[in-house]
Amino acid sequence: MSAEKSFELRDSGVLTFPEGFVWGAATAAYQIEGAARDDGRGPSIWDTFSRTPGKVHAGHTGDVACDHYHRYPEDVAIMRDLGLRAYRFSVSWPRLQPDGSGPVNPRGLDFYDRLVDELLGAGITPVVTLYHWDLPQTLEDRGGWTNRDTARHFADYAAIAHARLGDRVETWTTLNEPWCSAFLGYASGIHAPGRDEPALGFTAAHHLLLGHGLATAALRASGAEKVGVTLNLAPVISGDAPADRAAAEIVDGLQNRIFLDPLLHGEYPADVVERARRFTDWSFVQDGDLEIIGAPIDLLGVNYYTPQTVAAAPGEAANPVFPGSEGIAFGGADAPRTAMGWAIQPSGLTDLLVRLSRDYPGTPLMITENGAAFDDVVEDGRVRDTDRMSYLDGHLRAAHAAIEAGADLRGYLVWSLLDNFEWAEGYNKRFGVVHVDYDTQRRIPKDSARWYGEVVRRNGL
Ligand code: FCB
Repeated sequence: MSAEKSFELRDSGVLTFPEGFVWGAATAAYQIEGAARDDGRGPSIWDTFSRTPGKVHAGHTGDVACDHYHRYPEDVAIMRDLGLRAYRFSVSWPRLQPDGSGPVNPRGLDFYDRLVDELLGAGITPVVTLYHWDLPQTLEDRGGWTNRDTARHFADYAAIAHARLGDRVETWTTLNEPWCSAFLGYASGIHAPGRDEPALGFTAAHHLLLGHGLATAALRASGAEKVGVTLNLAPVISGDAPADRAAAEIVDGLQNRIFLDPLLHGEYPADVVERARRFTDWSFVQDGDLEIIGAPIDLLGVNYYTPQTVAAAPGEAANPVFPGSEGIAFGGADAPRTAMGWAIQPSGLTDLLVRLSRDYPGTPLMITENGAAFDDVVEDGRVRDTDRMSYLDGHLRAAHAAIEAGADLRGYLVWSLLDNFEWAEGYNKRFGVVHVDYDTQRRIPKDSARWYGEVVRRNGL
């Protein structure tokens, strides 16, 4: 999608969202729970990876994180006080099944049981993600997502979680951002488990998709009401020269269509299959897999932070997170940036949502993550994070513009409720609308949290 198709955004005015629009916040287990060895939890690939020297900023780990495992009543109370209506959290697979298959850990199930009851008691709808990157280490020792068996184990685990929580949880998301699991985790070594071969990235991507499909079937068989999956999608922006447009199409395939097409059209995009042939013969795709993967879903979760900006650059080496992307330069958008260095371009969200509605019609959308890290300062017990408020304001306006253009957008979940363990960046990057002091575990709602609560109350801006 090229730049000239971007929608004009209004920069002021009152906007109201559709009735019943879901408003909330999101987190993930390894990033907030801590209690890494409590109550029978098994080790995950992130426990191992964060202990591998040089992998995570300053050697940070999720051992304690926000101690949410013990402080969840306080965190739920904060959401209630802010008026949030929905909370997306992830279940830790190694807490439920310490080895990823076999025996179930009842104390792990008890924790999510208590959390769900606490949420419902506060009038907050739980939205469950089953896999937000914390693969049980025992499964990784057998190849992790490069091993087809992991997909089957994932479906068993989904059924275990649903059997305990399904009477109170309506919305189930199988995977969070399988692109990251596959290409940051197995192709480029940036995330756990830190493997770095292009072929493994494509193999893992397929087994993640298969895991999604098998888990979807298992969830449906146990009576789950709404099943979906969350992808990290990015519009790919380029200049209009044919070579630049071709570069954008390649990256769109490697980032977006490689997941969207099998999930929503039941097939891998031909150009991506062709491009990856230099790494793999795709023999990991077996008969029947694409029917399983392409089974209908009720909701597509969209995580959006920033677009990709690319240009043709003959001679450029491939970006390791996009195997097959040689001859393409990344970055370069002339826009203000967050503390992550990510360009702030709200119009990309409008473009993305409108494009999804056009190319993949019929699947309701929910923004399951959007937000920004900034170098927050606590002054007199207050965080005046105007840059985050303006980021959120801009992206909400962009989401509204997409609805006006016909996108079937059902909700918005801010990333994140709390400052937390930002993967390879450790605690160095703060995405929360609530500040966390990691020494005292004191929570301070930032100005953006109060502002967001007001947006929720008004159902608009
Ligand atoms: C997404 C992840 C989430 C968080 C945000 C900033 O890729 O799903 O856990 O790290 O980025």
